[in-house]
Amino acid sequence: MTQKILLTGGLGYIGSHTYVELIAAGYDVVIVDNLSNSKLSVCDRLAKITGQETSFIQADILDRSALSQIFAKDAFDAVIHFAGLKAVGESVEKPLDYMQVNVTGLVNILQEMQTANVNALVFSSSATVYDVSNVSPLKEGMPTGYTNPYGYTKLVCEQILAQATHANPELKTGILRYFNPAGAHSSGLIGEDPRDIPNNLMPYISRVASGEYEFVRIWGDDYPTPDGTGVRDYIHVDDLATGHVSSLHALLDKGESHLVNLGRGQGYSVMDVLNAYSRACGRELPHQILPRRAGDIAQMYADVEQAKQVLGFEVCRDMDAMCATSWNWINTGAKDG
Ligand code: NAD
Ligand code: WQD
Repeated sequence: MTQKILLTGGLGYIGSHTYVELIAAGYDVVIVDNLSNSKLSVCDRLAKITGQETSFIQADILDRSALSQIFAKDAFDAVIHFAGLKAVGESVEKPLDYMQVNVTGLVNILQEMQTANVNALVFSSSATVYDVSNVSPLKEGMPTGYTNPYGYTKLVCEQILAQATHANPELKTGILRYFNPAGAHSSGLIGEDPRDIPNNLMPYISRVASGEYEFVRIWGDDYPTPDGTGVRDYIHVDDLATGHVSSLHALLDKGESHLVNLGRGQGYSVMDVLNAYSRACGRELPHQILPRRAGDIAQMYADVEQAKQVLGFEVCRDMDAMCATSWNWINTGAKDG
């Protein structure tokens, strides 16, 4: 029988790409999103990509009665929980909002799952939970820590999941620590579309490419890295999406909980990303070197052995593919709606 998945935050950047992969893998999927950081038009775009109607419920994960109704209406086999707040700077300004949505939101989902006897959850964690003193490649067993309220909420959520699975051995969880998601779906119909000035590198570069901003601000070129700019592990959002299908498979078909990094296992510097984007859009993008950004570290990238061993997961797309699909999205799909 077709397995039914509840996808919270499924109209957002990573959730929408994961939806496409889940449908391709044969799952029946219901999206719940409050549209706080996404657009309703994504539903139509997902329908165009998948060739089937998108099953969407507009609801907030903080609304317990709405959640109860959602869990009462359908018998879900698993939940993939993307809904949450993710802006590091904003989390410093509004830490309580982050605790409420990210932490209380997860507890709400877990309690509803318990009531409905749903025993599989994939959770969006982040490489930000690694303590900054760790030396890359970052392995799952390394010490954790946080430097901002957003990171704190992700760490607390991981700990809540550990306690919940300890108390209920039936519950299986896939904790996925994403590195830096980038790129867009090859159709150009879905991608990352931040409402405010982007803090993250790739969406900022894409707005320089589109002419919205004048130049790329490079936060520091005096790091102990090959070209002096910060090094990160960028992973194509479509690879990240297939990682969720692998995680579901491990939970539902093998009954195995896991905590794994999802990255490429390779670092790219800010200059590497800028050069790749320039190739993708066909012109050299202007940049200025500015002082280091507070809180940044020189480099981080994933150890991907666990993802390979436990999930059989490997990436297939490189930085050129991330930039080409991002540019295709910015230049076409993002413009009209
Ligand atoms: P996103 O903002 O594009 O998607 C999140 C979605 O959740 C949005 O559609 C938003 O409308 C929805 N949402 C927010 N609060 C909600 C609520 N209270 N009830 C219902 N829906 C709500 O973000 P994303 O980049 O797709 O990230 C998805 C998840 O992955 C987040 O939990 C984020 O912390 C995590 N993550 C993201 C990154 C990244 O760099 N993008 C890295 C690591 C982890
Ligand atoms: C990447 C590199 C910057 C912007 C953040 C969160 C993390 C995770 C992913 C959710 C760094 C440099 C950036 C710019 C630049 N999100 N940069 N100019 O900081 O690795 O991670 O997003 O979980 O929690 O902290 O990503 O894209 O902001 O920065 O030079 O305009 O690009 O200094 O070296 P980061 P990023």
